[in-house]
Amino acid sequence: MNQKNSFDLDKCFGELDDPFKLFGEWFNKAKETEINDPNALALATADKNGVPSVRMVLLKDFSEKGFVFYTNLESKKSGDIKNNPNVSMCFHWKSLLRQIRIVGTITSVSNEEADNYYNSRAYGSRIGAWASKQSTVLKNRDELYKSIDNFKKKFPDEKNVPRPNYWSGWILHPNEIEFWLDGDNRIHQRLKYIKSNDNNWKKVLLSP
Ligand SMILES: Cc1cc2nc3c(=O)[nH]c(=O)nc-3n(C[C@H](O)[C@H](O)[C@H](O)COP(=O)(O)O)c2cc1C
Repeated sequence: MNQKNSFDLDKCFGELDDPFKLFGEWFNKAKETEINDPNALALATADKNGVPSVRMVLLKDFSEKGFVFYTNLESKKSGDIKNNPNVSMCFHWKSLLRQIRIVGTITSVSNEEADNYYNSRAYGSRIGAWASKQSTVLKNRDELYKSIDNFKKKFPDEKNVPRPNYWSGWILHPNEIEFWLDGDNRIHQRLKYIKSNDNNWKKVLLSP
């Protein structure tokens, strides 16, 4: 235990065998304390030459199966993922002085899952998914606005905008999940869960 953080990872080391339960507890707390986007995470990918790239995305679902985000399947990040499914995520909740790092491999979510999430989005966001060729070069902003107008004309019925086949979700299946708590004098607490071959999670404490 330390003075800045009332949580105690050392206690979890003795007691908590399920990293998803701990993730859920921290995430719920972050929803109460973060000023915005508690579900924002840094997503690191690497291309086929091992060159890394990192950007923020929003976590839209999580369960024991993994951590889900949505994006354009022709974007830079999706190109990396198709070549190299090893990715890493990092959450940092400033209000809580906590970090969670996740490493694993990625697969696609089902079409049904993607449709359900896509259809829950605002009309403008669904049109945006059609209009933006994410990560490609724009001649100017007008090119994008024209594309948005065209897709609004093509899909005027707000209740009936199909999901583009190049827009869907990825799910990260974790092999490692590390919880980090800020401590006094930089004596932080780190608890890492590692998936073993029998699919059970083993825990280790790491030096800060
Ligand atoms: C807080 C925040 C959340 C974001 N969420 C998403 C997201 O869920 N999906 C997405 O495609 N881009 C999201 N973005 C934009 C990405 O960071 C990035 O600019 C975009 O996906 C293109 O990345 P890429 O060229 O590496 O593929 C978000 C940006 C920020 C700052």
